[in-house]
Amino acid sequence: MAGLASRILVIGCTGYLGRRLVRASISMGHPTYVLLRPKTLPDPSKQGLIDEFESIGVTILQGDLNDHDNLIRCIKLVDVIISALSADLHHEQHKIIRAIKEAGNIKRFLPSEFGFNVDRVTVLPPCKFVMDIKVKIRRVIEEAGIPHTYVAANFMAEYFIDLFLHPHEQAEDEVIVYGTGKVKGENALNEPENIGIALVHRMFVDKRPSYELGENELEASELYPDYRYTPIDLVMDKVISDPPKIKYTSFPNSSGGHSASVTNGKKMPDADTGM
Ligand SMILES: NC(=O)c1ccc[n+]([C@@H]2O[C@H](COP(=O)([O-])OP(=O)(O)OC[C@H]3O[C@@H](n4cnc5c(N)ncnc54)[C@H](OP(=O)(O)O)[C@@H]3O)[C@@H](O)[C@H]2O)c1
Repeated sequence: MAGLASRILVIGCTGYLGRRLVRASISMGHPTYVLLRPKTLPDPSKQGLIDEFESIGVTILQGDLNDHDNLIRCIKLVDVIISALSADLHHEQHKIIRAIKEAGNIKRFLPSEFGFNVDRVTVLPPCKFVMDIKVKIRRVIEEAGIPHTYVAANFMAEYFIDLFLHPHEQAEDEVIVYGTGKVKGENALNEPENIGIALVHRMFVDKRPSYELGENELEASELYPDYRYTPIDLVMDKVISDPPKIKYTSFPNSSGGHSASVTNGKKMPDADTGM
């Protein structure tokens, strides 16, 4: 099977999503490569994961988005590139796009999306700023003429469900209710702490209807009809019986400078990939 399978490079392989993409790629028989930053390689907190990658047959390439020549050398080894970079690095993907264009061999690029379909769904600021970067990256890919797939995962339930239950944190006896619950027009939330709230608002408060799939869009479950999805009650059982570590995701801020780590609507001191 490996002879026919696409060779896949995952960029952002140590992240919450990236490590799952790597495991899935290997399990589906694809020769799988990861780009590891030289400064990440000796990181003791990543050693277990790197050992796991090696044990399942992942090819580890060292490199950085800023080393253009090395990026091209890595790109030339594969057919497909999947980026799972965190939101504060989405704008940096133009470096990958430039290298893909120059290398000229990539059959498909999947940029770091894995959320809302950003061309169709709007969210409150400051989250809108994050979505706008994804939109810009889509346009750069299209202008470069690179074959691409945008994966709109909406909410990954396991990622978010423990934010509601968070049994691993001390119980809080204070609940904040924003406004009266009657939303009028579009408001902006303060950033960056409220990016999580803006996401949850879009999912549970903003009742604008979902969209119909377009001509070039495909429901993923049709691609993999045999895949056994995990029902939400099993996810909740797991969260209660075996709580995962809190997941921190880095977001950019709209002034373009510093990034912040946000989980459960709270600003965290450091970025960590958790789990
Ligand atoms: N739909 C949903 O429910 C949902 C939930 C979560 C995430 N997402 C989306 O999934 C995507 C991935 O998010 P995530 O939470 O998995 O990200 P994450 O855990 O924060 O992982 C970020 C990855 O980026 C790498 N990275 C960080 N700084 C870098 C740099 N300067 N140069 C190169 N690599 C760098 C990290 O590698 P190092 O080990 O080298 O630091 C890590 O592998 C994002 O697009 C996010 O929006 C969607």
